[in-house]
Amino acid sequence: MVSAARRILDRVPRPEDFTSAVHDERVVARVGVWFGAAIVILFVTGLVSHLHQNPVWWLPFGPEPAWAYRVTQGLHVAAGFACVPLLLAKLYAVYPRLFVRPVVTGWRHGLERASVGLLVAATVFQVVTGVLNVFQLYVFGFGFTRVHYATSWIVFGAVLVHVGVQLPAVVRGLASGGDLSGSGVRGGHAVPRGGTVPQGGADDVGPRGSDEAQTTRRGFLGAVAVATLTLTALTLGQTWRPLRPVALLAPRDPEAGPQGLAVNKTARGAGVVEAATDPGWALELVGPGGAVRLSRDDLLALDQHEAVLPIACVEGWSATARWGGVRVRDLAALAGGRPDDPVHVQSLQARGSYRESDLPGAYVAHEDTLLALRLDGEDLALDHGFPARIIAPNRPGVLQTKWVARLVVGGAA
Ligand code: HEM
Repeated sequence: MVSAARRILDRVPRPEDFTSAVHDERVVARVGVWFGAAIVILFVTGLVSHLHQNPVWWLPFGPEPAWAYRVTQGLHVAAGFACVPLLLAKLYAVYPRLFVRPVVTGWRHGLERASVGLLVAATVFQVVTGVLNVFQLYVFGFGFTRVHYATSWIVFGAVLVHVGVQLPAVVRGLASGGDLSGSGVRGGHAVPRGGTVPQGGADDVGPRGSDEAQTTRRGFLGAVAVATLTLTALTLGQTWRPLRPVALLAPRDPEAGPQGLAVNKTARGAGVVEAATDPGWALELVGPGGAVRLSRDDLLALDQHEAVLPIACVEGWSATARWGGVRVRDLAALAGGRPDDPVHVQSLQARGSYRESDLPGAYVAHEDTLLALRLDGEDLALDHGFPARIIAPNRPGVLQTKWVARLVVGGAA
């Protein structure tokens, strides 16, 4: 029994059986730094998105600059796409390490391997579900945002542990500067350059030390860089206008939709077609001065303002449009509130996580925060929130509540 198991184990390759010059400490370190940078961008921009939707008093976001969320979330999804080639490259460069024996040498080694396992599993999960989400393939049976948020802490924590453990190898790998000749790794096992090569002789004289090996490493790193930059260029056009003509892989065309503007949630999808087209619709405005009902004509008779603002979707696309309507601060005043009172917004939607939102005081006070009635000089299309929707600067699209039914000045309903 024991000898059968040993025979099977003997057939499993060892790290030194993987002879590609790519399994090299210097390659692993460089791809690791690129991938790590992408993870830091993802974590920070992801937290920004989370804090917009789950505000904390000690780090409030304001309406200025108006373009900020568009940039941070555009960057988030762009870095997310860039992770696909980077993750594949990193896994390819290090996979011989999977075959290290003994599998575990002690509790420290065991912990280190477990943290790497967690890192790989969590990152693969995050990248796969993130990409599916932005292509609107909601095939997973869980609430994306909550699971994605929780996993992001696991990914970030595991990256910190991994970098801490591997720091000496990373420093060694990067210390070579542009020199990728000679051997830095045997069979995926990190060997300090000029240090002792364990079991089996000098590596620099083998295929890993040749000029050909250096060319292979350079070629691999070049291919990873080109693939990453190309993927970024082909997708970034969904939020960055200059790249729109080459946005061949972008999940969304931000101009494809009614009135030349994309829509994530349609009126039909939100189940509001009947209520939103009801000629008897009137906004219920509640505040310290009492409650009033304002029809669309009443709202159009109030002071109208225009604001050129982006609609910036959590899924990474964005587009600028000219919105027209009533300033929310004017409505707050009409309800007997102050122009910087927070306002709670309720939609005609009966269900859905985004049927309500809160406008903090700083947003209400901003001159460009509107209860929009018009888009680019026309009445709002039904899918853009007719009869009335919120539009404010520097705010995730999911908080720009559509088909507004009720505004409560002073906070919660
Ligand atoms: C791999 C590391 C990643 C980390 C650490 C990360 C982190 C985060 C965080 C913290 C949020 C905020 C969640 C919330 O609002 O509670 C977020 C949102 C989001 N992420 Fe990522 N993310 C990663 C990868 C990706 C990838 C690969 C994509 C897709 C290309 C992606 C797409 C999104 C989207 C669409 C949202 C908005 C979700 C929503 O509010 O509905 N993320 N991310």
